[in-house]
Amino acid sequence: MSDTTNSPAKGFLAKHALLEKSPTLLLVSSLLVVTVGGIVEIAPLFYLENTIEEVDGMRPYSPLELAGREVYIREGCYVCHSQMIRPMRDEVERYGHYSLAAESMYDHPFQWGSKRTGPDLARVGGKYSDAWHVDHLLNPQSVVPESIMPGYSHLMNNMVNAEYTADLVSTHRFVGVPYTEAMVEVAAADVLAQADPDTEAYDDLLERYPGAQIRNFDGAPGVSEMDALIAYMQMLGTLVDFSTFTPDASR
Ligand code: HEC
Repeated sequence: MSDTTNSPAKGFLAKHALLEKSPTLLLVSSLLVVTVGGIVEIAPLFYLENTIEEVDGMRPYSPLELAGREVYIREGCYVCHSQMIRPMRDEVERYGHYSLAAESMYDHPFQWGSKRTGPDLARVGGKYSDAWHVDHLLNPQSVVPESIMPGYSHLMNNMVNAEYTADLVSTHRFVGVPYTEAMVEVAAADVLAQADPDTEAYDDLLERYPGAQIRNFDGAPGVSEMDALIAYMQMLGTLVDFSTFTPDASR
């Protein structure tokens, strides 16, 4: 115990007693402090043109990827999986380059998440084969015996609704994703074309969505929600080329 415990505080600190004894004064002063703090944090944002650094390679989701993202949200995958690699060493070594703001700029809603019952999926694209994903989604324990992830075998039988996906593209355009009028018009055809390696629209599709992966993802005929979900998984985190990327801050 220090010997000052019972003696009244001296000088400037003694004035604090005034605040602590008057609830009204304490409330008013707290509000004042919070207001100043708030203004200091928020005001600069009004003078920035853009808080998201532009990054080469980012493009809106292709219709099939967007359909897969919709399945991902509907099935609640986000309840167990985050999509944001934080810039800490343990995360970067496990998952790869930390996530950039630009990588989720076309996400409505974003899938950052705060719950990791399963691993982060921000860079899962290309990590496994399509066949692995099919097996894993049909029955996770068949490839990872200790997994507690549930199976999603029904996705194999649910066919993607192309018209609904076209509406989805149009809705994303409405909220600011830079899809063109032409992209919306052919979205219903594009959603089917991307899962068909023999499609006539191969080059057009790549022109509209550079880097889009075009193949039969689930190995079964028809375009199922399994195709869509795997197309989405396989593109996650693959658009930005990190061998050539330099953050603004270190330019
Ligand atoms: C109940 C929680 C839970 C839900 C819901 C869930 N997962 Fe998982 N997921 C896990 C766990 C745990 C693992 C790690 C074990 C494994 O690989 O199965 C995992 C692993 C994965 C992996 C492999 C990641 C890697 O880097 O190895 C993928 C891909 C994946 N999940 C996709 C999905 C998708 C897509 C959905 C929704 C259709 C989903 N998960 C829903 C818990 C979940």
